[in-house]
Amino acid sequence: MIDPITAQKIKDAADIVEVVSDYVHLTRRGANYMGLCPFHNERTPSFSVNKRKNFCFCFSCKKGGSPVNFIMEKEGLSYHDALMHLARKYGIEVQERELTDEERAEQSERESMLVANEWAMLKMENDIFSSQEGRDIGLSYLYGRGVTEEAVRKFHLGYALDKGNALTSAAKAAGYDINILKNLGLVGTSKEGREYDRFRGRVIFPIINSAGKVIAFGGRDLKGGLAKYINSPESIVYKKSNELYGIYQARADIVKEDKCYLVEGYLDVIGMWQSGMRNTVASSGTALTDGQIALIHRFTENITLIYDGDAAGIKASLRGIDMLLGHKMKVKVLLLPDGDDPDSFARKHTPEEFREYVAKHETDIIRFKAQVLLADIRKDPQRRIEAVNSVVESIAHIPDPISRDVYIQECGAILGIPEETIAKSVARVRGALVEKWKRERTKTEFPSPTEQSSTSISTSVKETTASSGVANDNKATPNRRTAASPMLPLEKVVIEYCIKYGFLELCSVMEDESEFTISVLDFVSEELEADNQSFSVEIFGKIFSLLKDMRSDFKNALFSFTQRLNEDISRRRQEGIDKIASQDLSVVEIERAEKKLNVELESFKSETIREFSKDYPGRQLASHEDDNVRKAVTDLLRERHQLSHIYMRDNNVVERDEDRLGQLVPRAITEWKSELLNQRLKELFTQFHEISGKGDTETESKIMMEMNSIMRLRSQVAKDIGDRILSPRSRK
Ligand code: CTP
Ligand code: MN
Repeated sequence: MIDPITAQKIKDAADIVEVVSDYVHLTRRGANYMGLCPFHNERTPSFSVNKRKNFCFCFSCKKGGSPVNFIMEKEGLSYHDALMHLARKYGIEVQERELTDEERAEQSERESMLVANEWAMLKMENDIFSSQEGRDIGLSYLYGRGVTEEAVRKFHLGYALDKGNALTSAAKAAGYDINILKNLGLVGTSKEGREYDRFRGRVIFPIINSAGKVIAFGGRDLKGGLAKYINSPESIVYKKSNELYGIYQARADIVKEDKCYLVEGYLDVIGMWQSGMRNTVASSGTALTDGQIALIHRFTENITLIYDGDAAGIKASLRGIDMLLGHKMKVKVLLLPDGDDPDSFARKHTPEEFREYVAKHETDIIRFKAQVLLADIRKDPQRRIEAVNSVVESIAHIPDPISRDVYIQECGAILGIPEETIAKSVARVRGALVEKWKRERTKTEFPSPTEQSSTSISTSVKETTASSGVANDNKATPNRRTAASPMLPLEKVVIEYCIKYGFLELCSVMEDESEFTISVLDFVSEELEADNQSFSVEIFGKIFSLLKDMRSDFKNALFSFTQRLNEDISRRRQEGIDKIASQDLSVVEIERAEKKLNVELESFKSETIREFSKDYPGRQLASHEDDNVRKAVTDLLRERHQLSHIYMRDNNVVERDEDRLGQLVPRAITEWKSELLNQRLKELFTQFHEISGKGDTETESKIMMEMNSIMRLRSQVAKDIGDRILSPRSRK
């Protein structure tokens, strides 16, 4: 554990230019630096480093981030280890949190285990090359199976001498603790209590984690014994379900290719590697786990599962795909001809043939599933229903609604079922899944608006209400949760702005010298939260929280949209420059033309980004699975009476609503707030009227006090309506 203060110190010290310079030759380009991207192969630099923002980014492969992100990506480290790496670079002393005795013991046990494993790996690797037995039995077995010397060295393959307890006694002699060796599964104890080498007489496949630590071994039998493989047991250093064989050797290539192949066994990884597909890992014969997917996801989103084309292989390929889809992975599957695994296929074909085969036969997993199940169902109606349900289940796991639609169409066509039928089932299953995930999430960011019991817009109002003891009963508040809520028109304007312009910039603010922007949605949610105010119309509340949940997806979508746009713009720029160059112009004219071109491209860019941001929430919500949401949103998007006026100003400049968000949105909010206060005031009047003259002077005065404070608030709010108009560049 690095304490947060030290972590911050490390982050502050880490300078992106310095960090990247360890890996990339940077040259100055205006305010930024550029270089060849370290994450993929390229000949023209697209890797940009922004010193001011302490941030790097590849315009081509889109990898990058803070110094910590960069180190995580480049070194394949966890967040914690990346921080440690930077701490070493900057000579920052890390006082890891005082460990408990137990933790300290575990820590030192862990270290001892890793050291012992490392030693064992090197010994067995040495023995396969340097001992007669190793060469004659181990190495010749591997060579016989087509494993090259280069691969043996790359994967640190080894041989465990078949001598009872050769390794055990060598380890003891070298000072390793026998209990550590036993925990690691290197040493076993016989019934008679004799210690022996567990892996003896086997070819050894060390399992190395992404940080390069030797965490386990697999040993393949060479004599036709009962157990083809024995593996290290689970231990503090080896949690099988979080590891993948080959990750250490493959991680850089996974990043470079932005893709990972997943195979079943040790020799499959090596066969793939020898065929030039070095971005391959193995799940070691077991079903994929969440931890393993997360590990792959650190390096790429694209995964191709490779299986034997027999029935078992097909079944295996269908296992676990929903989990992969749920992790936002883009999954493909490849079946090798019946009876072949990657290892045998690699031996029958040249690397070129193998790679060609892979490229040609990779199929999108859901399409594949639909096809497989179709072949399976024939005329059995029961099986057909199961098949459709299972495809529906997979589609429902895909996070992106647009991709879901694409699959719904395609699978409808493949399975011969109307698209709407599939769409409906997907919506139902997805609804249930989302509910389930929500329940599983420990804390919900935002209390559901209908669950909130108070409409009061400020704490002062709430307190007086409570102390006056009169309006505790919510039913007494007439403006709640009814379709005919008097708040409806006011809330509608606000939710309309959120749907139409939610992700547009309302204003930008300066804080600590850095500028950041506040979107319409940010502004509205801040305002509502500040006064503990929520939509009384249920569907508006729901849409609003959907919009808030959409923020990070939007960021990602905008990010990749901007990348594509940038490519488009540089193409246009090049075309423009070529055109200018082809004309017979003077230097001054060329400069002027180029300047004009740049200005045009800049405004094209910002306009396009704005359009994209503007359309995003409406597009997402209009295809939402919930019928009510879809309907409400399409209705709201159609409404034009309140919004979208075009204002002609004195000088005849056309001004759209979206150019005046800084005025319109705060006004809509304040109008809503002031109406809430009016409502409350009315209630109080009624109550006052009811009890006045009955001698309950205490309650009377409490009500009067609350009325007073509300009137004060109301005039404040009214003043705000006039005052709080935000100019696009400043707030308040
Ligand atoms: N495996 C295992 N223990 C076993 C059998 C298999 O750990 N008893 C794991 C190994 O990681 C193995 C993978 O499952 O690599 C795939 O098993 P299999 O296809 O049987 O082995 P191969 O690696 O293909 O080995 P070989 O080709 O030498 O039979
Ligand atoms: Mn095999």
